Amino acid sequence: MSFVSPIKAALGRTAFITGGGQGIGRAIATRLARDGYDISIADLPSAKERVAEVVKEIEGYGRKAISVEANVKEPKQIYNAIEETVERLGPNLFVSVANAGVTQVKPLLECEPEFIENEVRINILGLMNTHIAAARQMVKQGNGGRIIGAGSIASYRTAENLGPYGGTKFAVRGFTEAAAKEWAQYGIRVNAYAPGIVDTPMWDHIDRELARIENISVGDAKAIRVKRDIKLGRIQEPEDVAKLVAFLVSDEGEYITGQTIKTCGGASL
Ligand SMILES: NC(=O)c1ccc[n+]([C@@H]2O[C@H](COP(=O)([O-])OP(=O)(O)OC[C@H]3O[C@@H](n4cnc5c(N)ncnc54)[C@H](O)[C@@H]3O)[C@@H](O)[C@H]2O)c1
Repeated sequence: MSFVSPIKAALGRTAFITGGGQGIGRAIATRLARDGYDISIADLPSAKERVAEVVKEIEGYGRKAISVEANVKEPKQIYNAIEETVERLGPNLFVSVANAGVTQVKPLLECEPEFIENEVRINILGLMNTHIAAARQMVKQGNGGRIIGAGSIASYRTAENLGPYGGTKFAVRGFTEAAAKEWAQYGIRVNAYAPGIVDTPMWDHIDRELARIENISVGDAKAIRVKRDIKLGRIQEPEDVAKLVAFLVSDEGEYITGQTIKTCGGASL
């Protein structure tokens, strides 16, 4: 990664990010903090220590940061997390990023209902509830806002052994459009990022599972796909996704809404 963004002055605005304890969510949280946002990170209780590290990093940039526990499978926990964010950081919620997501790797014929339900509840129901909870607060504040969701190149083209994941990510595209249409009148823009193969713990998990299914060595599933699919010749860093988010929430992105934007180094071509 070559570019490190500068630390900018405080904006007096808050960004709320689910799943900000590691990977893409962490990169978005730290990038938006460097751009001047105070940050609220909602993650699972099991991520508490990792979130504490992110909070510490953000405080080092001179911004406020808080950790609010929430499992996005539980709508009430999402609403409580938004409420706690506003109580602790003030009624300045301007950005919400529904980033939390999971992927499970299995051939469709082996997928049990509980397995599918888990992915649907986190990846799409969690995103819908996070978007709506955040939008309600933004409408109440009356100053507009920016809502971002986690799509994927799987929002455009699914892959074998990732069927339920692809289904949820296609749905992200649909919901992004619907929310953008309804909330433009409130000055709220809604978009999603669609990354390719990002170097995070999620892809380490996918790699291990694909290695088992394809009977190859751990590390090879990722290496083969990076070499074969990514035209820009390197794996994607979480910070690459954060750059797109920083652009979308900024005034530079003022005419963009309802889009699920690929950032994948050409992997989808
Ligand atoms: N890594 C990739 O290549 C890639 C590609 C395309 C899209 N995405 C999407 O980007 C998002 C982030 O991916 P990542 O690679 O950083 O994942 P990751 O697994 O590395 O991190 C996910 C974070 O979300 C949290 N989380 C998981 N379930 C949660 C829940 N129920 N409630 C609250 N928090 C929860 C985890 O604790 C963790 O901090 C996901 O939605 C993923 O589908 C990732």
